[in-house]
Amino acid sequence: MKNIVITGGAGFIGSHVVRLFVNKYPQYNIINLDKLTYAGNLANLKDIEDKPNYKFVKMDICDFDAFYQLMQDEQIDGIIHLAAESHVDRSIKDPFTFARTNVMGTLSLLQAAKLYWESLPEKYEGKRFYHISTDEVYGALEMTNPEGIKPPFTTKASSGEHHLAYGKDFFYETTKYNPHSPYSASKASSDHFVRAFHDTYGMPTIVTNCSNNYGPYQFPEKLIPLFINNIRHRKPLPVYGKGENVRDWLYVVDHARAIDTIFHNGTIAETYNIGGFNEWKNIDIIKTVIATVDRLLGRPEGADLDLITYVTDRLGHDARYAIDSTKLQKELGWEPSLQFEEGIEKTVKWYLDNEEWLDNVTSGDYQSYYENMYKGR
Ligand code: NAD
Ligand code: DAU
Repeated sequence: MKNIVITGGAGFIGSHVVRLFVNKYPQYNIINLDKLTYAGNLANLKDIEDKPNYKFVKMDICDFDAFYQLMQDEQIDGIIHLAAESHVDRSIKDPFTFARTNVMGTLSLLQAAKLYWESLPEKYEGKRFYHISTDEVYGALEMTNPEGIKPPFTTKASSGEHHLAYGKDFFYETTKYNPHSPYSASKASSDHFVRAFHDTYGMPTIVTNCSNNYGPYQFPEKLIPLFINNIRHRKPLPVYGKGENVRDWLYVVDHARAIDTIFHNGTIAETYNIGGFNEWKNIDIIKTVIATVDRLLGRPEGADLDLITYVTDRLGHDARYAIDSTKLQKELGWEPSLQFEEGIEKTVKWYLDNEEWLDNVTSGDYQSYYENMYKGR
């Protein structure tokens, strides 16, 4: 029996990780620890909430005393840490919240885990602190090939017709950290603390850095679900700058599968990059999403292209992210399960089939918060 805490389990990626672990490992006790901020939603876990190996605990990761108590009460062996403030635009408006949750929250978990595990006869034996981080900590890559070139890699995620790379370089596990936004600076800082706890105290830690995720249950402030929802309501689609920034997209379930593989088989103190070699310019994704929504809603082809509205660019907008995940693929045998075109089709269909979920999370306070955010730009 293993007792595992998954932090941020009511959020987008966390809910997929909780679902996978609860269903796949009936022998584990899975504790979903989440503060339920605007981004946390227990409706994301309706299908597993009654399982005997699942428990939800509402807690702030910054609450050291409460977490230390939980470690003792539940005899926690493993921590998979996803809880964070995760939206770059919010971090530009309100960096303090990001430092508090992402830096101090992570440090609080590390210190509580250290005190509890060091008090046990077996100490760190059989224990794991797995920290989920992002490719954004590496900074931005140059767009040396703005027209796109045929890349050297092919994976299921990138095997579609599009399959282009916009530069020769990638983020490797050895790439020096160079974060630009308050969000990525806070994630970089938390990564450093996690590694420091290994190097200083011998805590068995693992860090992974993943590229942009997409799929069901993503809060509609992020590009893909925001645009699906706006197209649905025929609202403008705010494209930052020229829409030429490049992101490397991975279906969220494939990220959850990678987390499972690495939690169980990854080497302590190692870093693994997670991504599908699947680079897209924002504007190309946006056109694909428009075409897919229009087709699934039975609207004429191209009907909603005029919703595209170019707006002032995000401050410090990183040009290009591209992850090299060769290490994970070669050493642990993980690879993405879906071609991107298939994943986008599944994703758009999910949001259109789950309008109630979308309407609930986009109602009231959130809506006015978001509108105010645009006014400030
Ligand atoms: P999300 O914003 O959808 O979910 C975050 C969750 O953390 C929410 O459930 C929220 O309630 C919870 N939370 C926030 N502050 C908390 C606090 N103080 N105490 C307890 N819980 C708190 O985020 P996501 O997109 O699912 O990202 C999850 C993790 O993965 C983050 O660490 C993020 O940096 C990382 N990541 C995300 C992506 C991506 O594309 N979304 C890519 C790579 C890495
Ligand atoms: O790379 C991993 C990161 O991906 C994660 O660590 C973050 O938590 C996650 O939010 C995501 O960050 P991005 O900033 O890349 O994601 P976002 O969906 O906010 O934006 C994707 C791209 O689309 C980015 O270039 C900005 C652009 N964009 C975004 C929004 C919300 C727009 O043009 N218009 C928009 O309205």
